[in-house]
Amino acid sequence: ITIYVPRDAAALSVGADQIAALIRIEADRRGADIQIVRNGSRGMLWLEPLVEVATPEGRVAYGPVTAADVPALFDAGFLTGAPQPPHPLHLGPTEEIPYLKNQERLTFARCGVIDPLSVDDYREHGGFAGLERALAMTPEQVIAEVTESGLRGRGGAGFPTGIKWKTVHDAVADEKFICCNADEGDSGTFADRMIMEGDPFILIEGMTIAAIAVGARQGYIYIRSEYPHAIATLRDAITAAYVENWLGDGIHGSAHSFDLEVRVGAGAYICGEETAMLESLEGKRGMVRAKPPLPALEGLFGKPTVVNNVLSLTSVPVILARGGAFYRDFGVGRSRGTQPFQLGGNIRHGGIVEKAFGITLRELLYDFGGGTASGRPIRAVQVGGPLGAYLPPEHFDTPKDYEAFAAREAMVGHGGIVVFDDTVDMAMQARFAMEFCAAESCGKCTPCRIGAVRGVEILDRVLAGGASPKQLTLLEGLCEVMADGSLCAMGGLTPMPVRSALKHFPEDFDRPAAALAAE
Ligand code: NAI
Ligand code: SF4
Repeated sequence: ITIYVPRDAAALSVGADQIAALIRIEADRRGADIQIVRNGSRGMLWLEPLVEVATPEGRVAYGPVTAADVPALFDAGFLTGAPQPPHPLHLGPTEEIPYLKNQERLTFARCGVIDPLSVDDYREHGGFAGLERALAMTPEQVIAEVTESGLRGRGGAGFPTGIKWKTVHDAVADEKFICCNADEGDSGTFADRMIMEGDPFILIEGMTIAAIAVGARQGYIYIRSEYPHAIATLRDAITAAYVENWLGDGIHGSAHSFDLEVRVGAGAYICGEETAMLESLEGKRGMVRAKPPLPALEGLFGKPTVVNNVLSLTSVPVILARGGAFYRDFGVGRSRGTQPFQLGGNIRHGGIVEKAFGITLRELLYDFGGGTASGRPIRAVQVGGPLGAYLPPEHFDTPKDYEAFAAREAMVGHGGIVVFDDTVDMAMQARFAMEFCAAESCGKCTPCRIGAVRGVEILDRVLAGGASPKQLTLLEGLCEVMADGSLCAMGGLTPMPVRSALKHFPEDFDRPAAALAAE
């Protein structure tokens, strides 16, 4: 009997290791022959630790399982997946749980299903099919397939991946690199981490396909130090891929060779900006470089470099395996394919929801998320990380689509959605944006380095109450300077949350001195 207990950091944080140990002890005590597979997470975080039992009819889920539940689960026929006598944690067939069933999982299709470190399991579930196809294609054909798919950069900027790869491919150089940006720094985002922990070979496969497409021999995965489990899992997966010749010289008898290493960042948000990440990879302090030159032409060590986010690269294997046209069939407008959205903050059912572009915020927040965890009404959601806009309920019917969000002066970003109920103070949230920028600025340019500090000061005056309207005019002017004059997206996008808070929640900035004094 096979039992699945996740090894994902989210499951570990609520005791998955202890549950796995207790299931082993209980099974031994009862003489039951079981094997425990430590899988990734299915992405239904409120149900973690989610334990599954393999039955002839498919996998059956139980969750959230606590240590005290384990003996009772065995008593209730847990090893057969049977609901008789019914146990309150019995969730039925995993794939039938509506949260999972109603998704369109292309990138996350295997996450939580397979043993993350088993090459055999990966292959049995369709893994390496894209790479096998790419190995038999010319680089131009691989790029054409990715271009045809309509894939755009999932890190947040949405730049067409096929065009980026073609730029690197066409650049003439003795050496080229593939760098994966796994410095997932946006608040409320965790999709990169979950896929790296739950299905690491998909990233190795996507990067190897990128290497074939542009003619690179060396790749780096830049992971933030806050992700120790992802770092360990990827390092183990890379070793396994070398053993099976999915990395290294002459991959599976082909003329293609590719080496891959994990490099660990030191915790600076700005190292997620691609040029600061390249500086850090070169062993220097993570400072932003001016663009141009683009990394595609002069990137790591001055060589043409593909810099892609984890989610862009992990979208590639299915595109190669099933064709660009298949992937393009999902989505709306110029936003093609799927996006693993991440529901966080004050939400009842937080987790990963992979859906085609075009789904509305409302569907994500209520049909999947089930409203707030507090039970109070949702007042605002911040979409696209700490530099993204706050949107009020009037905008919840906006479809997830890069252009539709831009029209609302917002951005899809990396797919993070952080929920706030009606107790939120939006002036405080605006202050937080400026404070975050002041703390994380690399200091290279004045609008960001000094502007963010001045922004905190102005907002402190507003928060203190009785501020003159001039302060808000000053804030607007400061936002304009930061948006137009900053060297990179850090200072350039900080005004987005501030302006959205001012626009949609002006009442929170109107704080009479007397009222505040009384508080
Ligand atoms: P950008 O628009 O300057 O560039 C996007 C990408 O396209 C870069 O890799 C750039 O080098 C490339 N590119 C642009 N023109 C090109 C051309 N002609 N040929 C080849 N490549 C080209 O945006 P940037 O500053 O790289 O990223 C900003 C975004 O990052 C924001 O929109 C935000 O959503 C996102 N972000 C994501 C975070 C995360 O944790 N995932 C954290 C903070 C911001
Ligand atoms: Fe550095 Fe901020 Fe300027 Fe970006 S905008 S280069 S983070 S100072």
